[in-house]
Amino acid sequence: MKKIGIIGSGQVSQSLARGFLKYNYPVMIGSRSRQKQSELESLIGGEIRVGDFPKTAAYGEIIVLAVKGSIASDALQTIPSPALKDKIIIDATNPIADSQPENGVLKFFTDQNHSLMEQLQASFSESMFVKAFSCIGSALMVNPHFDGGLRPTMFICGNNEEAKMEVKHITDLFGFETEDMGGVEAARAIEPLCMLWCIPGFKSNAWGHAFKMLK
Ligand SMILES: NC(=O)c1ccc[n+]([C@@H]2O[C@H](COP(=O)([O-])OP(=O)(O)OC[C@H]3O[C@@H](n4cnc5c(N)ncnc54)[C@H](OP(=O)(O)O)[C@@H]3O)[C@@H](O)[C@H]2O)c1
Repeated sequence: MKKIGIIGSGQVSQSLARGFLKYNYPVMIGSRSRQKQSELESLIGGEIRVGDFPKTAAYGEIIVLAVKGSIASDALQTIPSPALKDKIIIDATNPIADSQPENGVLKFFTDQNHSLMEQLQASFSESMFVKAFSCIGSALMVNPHFDGGLRPTMFICGNNEEAKMEVKHITDLFGFETEDMGGVEAARAIEPLCMLWCIPGFKSNAWGHAFKMLK
């Protein structure tokens, strides 16, 4: 099993770490904070490893980016480039602005013709970014249960076909029907799905839904 290095230590990181451990992937979680690093060991348990961002990226044969969108680039900048070179980066981030949602609608710091993942792919061009896990809540990221055994759709995109196949293997394993939306530009459409996903949450405190593409 390929080793997974998760940059970020929030809800998404913890949920995906549990999922990878469930399927016997070796996992390291990265946090800036030494205190959080020791908390994570007891929070997640199992065979979890923890480290700082550079150590975690160096460990991961596949990297997961799960930090606040506004500092995603800064977080990757702290990692020496050999630890990122030629690696798949599963990008779960969303470009959520710091300002408050308006009537339940999140605000983004990007616009409709420029996604966060395109910016990251351009800045870290030796890595292969694949958008995934960005438009579903952290509690539903691993084998979510829906009536009738329905598998929700996981929309992915990225420029490298082999990287997307590798990520599809993971998202299939985690209980999704994976839909490849094409190149990195498709992140302009996938990232805003997070706004739509969050509206029922902000308006009615309903967080248990997922998207499904019917054909
Ligand atoms: N929460 C969800 O259900 C959900 C679902 C889909 C996608 N997403 C996206 O996934 C990403 C992670 O979300 P999350 O809710 O797990 O966590 P989050 O609260 O958005 O981010 C937490 C992580 O960001 C890091 N961070 C915060 N400020 C930083 C800074 N100035 N420099 C470096 N690192 C910093 C923290 O690092 P330390 O560990 O060092 O404190 C922590 O690891 C976000 O982009 C979010 O939009 C979230």
